[in-house]
Amino acid sequence: MAVLVTGGLGYIGSHTVVELINNGYEVVIVDDLSNSERFILKNIEEITGKKPFFYPFDLRRRELLTQVFDAHQIEGCINFAASKAVGESQIKPVDYYENNLFTLINILQEFKERGISNFIFSSSCTVYGQAEKMPITENTPLKLPESVYGKTKQMGEEILIDFAKAYQRKISLLRYFNPIGAHPSGKLGELPIGVPNNLVPYVMQTAVGIREKLNIWGDDYDTADGTPIRDYIYVVDLAKAHVSALKKLMESNEQTVIDIFNLGAGKGSSVLEVVKAFETANDVKVPYQICPRREGDITIAYADVTKAERELHWKSETPLEESLRTAWKWQQYLESKTV
Ligand code: NAD
Ligand code: WQD
Repeated sequence: MAVLVTGGLGYIGSHTVVELINNGYEVVIVDDLSNSERFILKNIEEITGKKPFFYPFDLRRRELLTQVFDAHQIEGCINFAASKAVGESQIKPVDYYENNLFTLINILQEFKERGISNFIFSSSCTVYGQAEKMPITENTPLKLPESVYGKTKQMGEEILIDFAKAYQRKISLLRYFNPIGAHPSGKLGELPIGVPNNLVPYVMQTAVGIREKLNIWGDDYDTADGTPIRDYIYVVDLAKAHVSALKKLMESNEQTVIDIFNLGAGKGSSVLEVVKAFETANDVKVPYQICPRREGDITIAYADVTKAERELHWKSETPLEESLRTAWKWQQYLESKTV
């Protein structure tokens, strides 16, 4: 029996593959390497001592996916594969709808035809938009996302809920807040292509000298230091939550399960707090300048994680500084690979 991990060589996927292997699961990865590198597979093997099955193809190619399901006894799927750049999704909406939804539907067709249950979906806190009340619970009303990327996540959730109800299957929608950090070995981490959009990769590239200065997008928000607040969750903690969510689905005696969990640290940090924590953790300087607000940014978002704590017996406990230390170790590993 095996678990299909799509996008398993990507940032969150690779960390989750390690946790699955460490928990005794057989892992089958499908990843087209559109936003990842082959050396990650070797590094997973170095960390775990096991080589997962790996198929490098685009999940939109249904006939190749069928062959994977023929070759392995798949008992569940964690579906990370998606395009995730918010800005790009506005410029290439059709590509985003196609990649994020066709891939999902192709896997669900295989699940439907073969009677497989246990599907975990990478959703996002973006489905809440700017919530009225903090912290954000799973019952906080959803808002129509501003970005095409966000819409693909909300549509994905709806498709999966319909799938679970109609065919009596088990699904889990995991709404990640802001994943950061890297594997403690320094051998897995985020690989931003081009200029990073996300805060921590930009901070790292500034600290290492690739970028001259960090642009802080606004310090006139209604927060203590004027910069926006997010819930930064350590990626290894996030990866472990997937194993718990999968176990919960597999162990459930119910035929139909629709789980929804917020996955965050349950604590908000401002942009300036992250920059300071990075400087302290790694004893480096991050030059920055204050710039106008970035379009579409919200003021504050952090998670109420009591449901995940109660039902998944999981909690993110890694302090911000520690996860920022692992991020820096990863950046140095990347530097050493390029020289
Ligand atoms: P990532 O880009 O590092 O990983 C995604 C992987 O999927 C990549 O390795 C890519 O090559 C692969 N992929 C993409 N399209 C594919 C296709 N058609 N066929 C096969 N492989 C394909 O992204 P990540 O940060 O690890 O995110 C994983 C998931 O979590 C995504 O669904 C993303 O939307 C979601 N998510 C990410 C964040 C975040 O901040 N990183 C936050 C919330 C949700
Ligand atoms: C965090 C904070 C920026 C970069 C995005 C997606 C969302 C979800 C998580 C996938 C904000 C500030 C950033 C920089 C800065 N992803 N910042 N200078 O905006 O919470 O959400 O990632 O589902 O969908 O939109 O994360 O890391 O981009 O920004 O000042 O160079 O850092 O303004 O306040 P965000 P982020």
